[in-house]
Amino acid sequence: MASVLVAHATKYGSTQEVADAVAARLCERGDETYVRPASDNDSLDGYDAGVVGGALYCFRRIREGRRFLSRHRKALSEMPVAVFGMGPIEDTDEQFVDARKHLDKSLDKNKSLSPVAVTVFGGALDPTRLRFPDANPAMKNVPPSDLRDWKAIETWADSLPEALGLIVD
Ligand SMILES: Cc1cc2nc3c(=O)[nH]c(=O)nc-3n(C[C@H](O)[C@H](O)[C@H](O)COP(=O)(O)O)c2cc1C
Repeated sequence: MASVLVAHATKYGSTQEVADAVAARLCERGDETYVRPASDNDSLDGYDAGVVGGALYCFRRIREGRRFLSRHRKALSEMPVAVFGMGPIEDTDEQFVDARKHLDKSLDKNKSLSPVAVTVFGGALDPTRLRFPDANPAMKNVPPSDLRDWKAIETWADSLPEALGLIVD
């Protein structure tokens, strides 16, 4: 049985819900999964693999996600890691391609990290819940959306044991 950390960097909770879903799926397979906020300072000792999820805000991963990768640079370079980013709030190819581009660009800055899998999931937005500085007039007028595709999230989670090398014959 492998011990897998699922870390999430979220502002409004949609990324955490995806992290929970990924963890639940890994757990069903029999792995020990631990869902933790990326802001946690605890050491990563004892984990066999990691999944790191972070929301994209204004074309970059949120600060907690960037700090997490930098704070745990060494530990993460020594274990298999998968990464997911969130997430377009308009269902257009352009938004998904852009989000992936920004995620890749941001990950490229962590030279020691070589994720075994990277993906982008659609995001969720409830404009009535936005706080400063997100609650600007432009964002407040965006319609509510939830583009999280739970089937695609489960399928990705199911691909992780092999990608993370957790399958033992
Ligand atoms: C102010 C603001 C800026 C955003 N910028 C981006 C962006 O550049 N790229 C993107 O893909 N999604 C962007 N989003 C969408 C969020 O990533 C999406 O709502 C995500 O699900 C939020 O995650 P959270 O609920 O875990 O905080 C933005 C959302 C807000 C409110």
